[in-house]
Amino acid sequence: MKTSNGVASSLLLRLDSRSSTPLHEQLFEGLRARILSGALAPGLRIPSSRQLATELDVARSTVLQALDALIAEGYLVARAGSCTRVAPELPLLAADVPRSGTRSPSTRLRASRGPRLADAARALKSTSSGAPRLGAAPRAFRPGVPALDLFPTARWARTVSRVHARASMGLFDGGDPSGHAPLREAIASHVSASRGVRCVPEQVFITAGTQQAFDEVLRLALNPGDSVWIEDPGYPGSHRAVLAAGGRPVPIPVDGEGLDVSAGLARAPRARVALVAPSHQYPLGVTLSLSRRMALLQWAERTRAWILEDDYDSEFRHRGRPLTALQGLDEAGCVVYVGTFSKSMFPGLRLGFLVAPPSLVDVFCAARAAAPSPASTLEQAALAAFLADGHFARHLRRMRAAYRERGEALLDALRADCSGVLVPRPCDTGMQLRASLAAPLSDLRVRDEAARRGVEVAALSDYFLGRRRESGLVFGFGGVRPDALREGTRILARALEAARRR
Ligand SMILES: Cc1ncc(COP(=O)(O)O)c(C=O)c1O
Repeated sequence: MKTSNGVASSLLLRLDSRSSTPLHEQLFEGLRARILSGALAPGLRIPSSRQLATELDVARSTVLQALDALIAEGYLVARAGSCTRVAPELPLLAADVPRSGTRSPSTRLRASRGPRLADAARALKSTSSGAPRLGAAPRAFRPGVPALDLFPTARWARTVSRVHARASMGLFDGGDPSGHAPLREAIASHVSASRGVRCVPEQVFITAGTQQAFDEVLRLALNPGDSVWIEDPGYPGSHRAVLAAGGRPVPIPVDGEGLDVSAGLARAPRARVALVAPSHQYPLGVTLSLSRRMALLQWAERTRAWILEDDYDSEFRHRGRPLTALQGLDEAGCVVYVGTFSKSMFPGLRLGFLVAPPSLVDVFCAARAAAPSPASTLEQAALAAFLADGHFARHLRRMRAAYRERGEALLDALRADCSGVLVPRPCDTGMQLRASLAAPLSDLRVRDEAARRGVEVAALSDYFLGRRRESGLVFGFGGVRPDALREGTRILARALEAARRR
């Protein structure tokens, strides 16, 4: 039975010859959806390909292509010399099975509870998201974003294209699972000189940034449910990494001297790992005091615990030499030092590294045999060349000066526009600063009022896991030009006023 507009009346199928989807795919999808919804019952006889071609006004080869695909996927069965039927043992799903290739999931898929989650995944779903994000482009006062506007993009592009053009077969091959050797060498000499890290290139393993380094280390250190000290308030990424690895995060308070090691000893003396940012704690910006560094190292040596040192932005000390890394004081080989190029280059590069203590190099090599470095070898080679040619060191020097200038511009603007309500803390490292609220105001309310006006500012209380001991605001200034910082503080002043009135 044939109709004028490509409808198979026997199967109630309609094809659209103007659609960009090929006719055989439309026929495949139409039949598949009817079979899965039960409209075409198991065992039902399908008209012959010749009959369907006539009914739908399409070539017989189009019908055969669709039927063959349905037979191959088990929706139809065809026996030699017999007709084609709907497979007799198909489980009936639901009416709204999505068409393959459709962009959004069906209502049923969205509402589905899905496979059962691990406890760790359930805990992960309820972690804090940190600062609000109002759009893709960096704006006042997004924390954690480097000065992308000052990145030497053209130079980087030339380095990448030169390395790609001259790449040997070795670079196109899988590469070393521990990381590209020249990059490991360049990193070892850079962190030895600039951060006081004691290492040889064999201890350096290339990662796809800090987060992946945390993940790798925690998987090697933890059995399910093992305790991990994490800073409170702290970086939400640390909390998430511990949960993802099946560990039990134990929040340890941070004060003006950094992580309170004695509180850690009281709360979880047998913890397997302490995850700390000793040189520049996030979000408080404090430095771990020497006495606490020593206490932390002694605890780790005594209990054979790991210290995971997150050294994400301390290269950006605005004046003077960066502080020496904790790893440089470690005589027992307990510290895994983690560095990232997310701040010193750009976050999208997704390159970082970890420095393993000598006794753990073998286990990291074994881990890499199971899960090789996820970083692209060609990008690693480009970064190695960027370091070797001196561009990286030059860029760091320029960034230090830029962050000093931007930090001072933000302090001046806050003093001019928000004095009496906000008390900013001077900042000598990195690309964010924090301010206390002088008035009894909720920082969460200020954050929301600012977001309503298009300004991103993080609320300090969002970074606490235990009791919220302090309220305040965290400002990122690294990725924002001084004029935009000033505009941001003017808007923030209005948000503070609105939060006060509510
Ligand atoms: C405390 C802290 N550690 C590490 C990182 C860097 O993470 P990644 O290297 O995964 O980009 C950030 C980024 O904002 C951070 O704030």
